[in-house]
Amino acid sequence: MQIESTGAALGAIATGVDVTAMSEDEWNALYQAWLDHNGVLVVRGQNLSIPEFLAHGRRFGDVKPHFVKKSRHPEYPELTVMGEGTRHADGSVNRTVYARGHGWHTDGPWDPDGCKATMLYALELPSRGGDTLFANMYMALDALPAALKDRIADLEADYVYGGAQRHGNDLLEPEDRNATPIRHKIVRTHPETGRPSLYFNAHHLLEIAGLSAEEGEALTADLKPHQRAPGAEYRHKWETGDVVIWDNRCTLHSAAADYPIEERRIHWRCTIKG
Ligand code: SIN
Repeated sequence: MQIESTGAALGAIATGVDVTAMSEDEWNALYQAWLDHNGVLVVRGQNLSIPEFLAHGRRFGDVKPHFVKKSRHPEYPELTVMGEGTRHADGSVNRTVYARGHGWHTDGPWDPDGCKATMLYALELPSRGGDTLFANMYMALDALPAALKDRIADLEADYVYGGAQRHGNDLLEPEDRNATPIRHKIVRTHPETGRPSLYFNAHHLLEIAGLSAEEGEALTADLKPHQRAPGAEYRHKWETGDVVIWDNRCTLHSAAADYPIEERRIHWRCTIKG
C-alpha cells in the first residue's frame, strides 16, 4: 500500500490496497492518514459489493440510514444511491438529484447522532465534470481576521436539514426541515486531533443562538467568504472505483454539479455517526 498527499491543503491518496482484505497495520495507517491529512482520504481502485462498502464504512464508526428516505437503497437502508433520477417524468432536470451536495456544506449538523464522516464510492462517472471540492476548516479558522475570531469564539448555531425556510433550499422531502434543531459551537475542537476548526454551515443553518435573524444573516455574510481560506482546498477528480471518505468535523465540501445531464454520475454513499 502507498499513501501520498494530494499535494493540496487536505487529502491523502492510497493505492495498492484492497479495503476488503487489509491487514490491521494497513487499516491503522489509512485511518491515521485520514486524520493527518486534514480529513479527506481517497482509496483508489476498489471493486466493492454493497455489504463490502458498508463494512468498510463501519470501520470508521456506526453507519446509519440517511434522513432522506427516497434515495435509500431498498434492501440496504444505510446505503444512499446518489445520481439516480436526474430528470423528472416530463424530461426536465431534477436539480435536487442532479445538484445534490452542490454548495459548500458539511453533512449532518442537523443530526442528533452527529455525522463524523461521509463515504462515497464511484460506480459510474461522466466524461467531464462532476468533481467534488473540499475545504480545510482548520486552516479557515487560523486564517480568520482576529476580530471575527473573537466574535464567534463563544457562539453557537442551530441547524435543521436544508436550513431556514427563508433560504429556499430545495429538498427531496420538504418535511425533513421540521425536525428538532441541533446546536453546535461555531468553533469546535476535533475530538481525535485536538485541533480547533471552524464549524459553520450556512446551507443547513436555522439561526445563530442569541442573535436576531438580521444579526445572524450579517454574521453569516461576514463568515462565509472566510470559509474558503486561500490555498485551503482540494478538488477531487473521480476515477471509477474510488472510495473517498471525508471528516465532517473539520472539512466542508461541495459537489461541482457541472457534468452533462445526459450522462450518468452514480455513487454509493454512507453516513458514519458520531
Ligand atoms: C454530498 O455532498 O454528499 C455529495 C458530494 C458529491 O456528490 O460530490
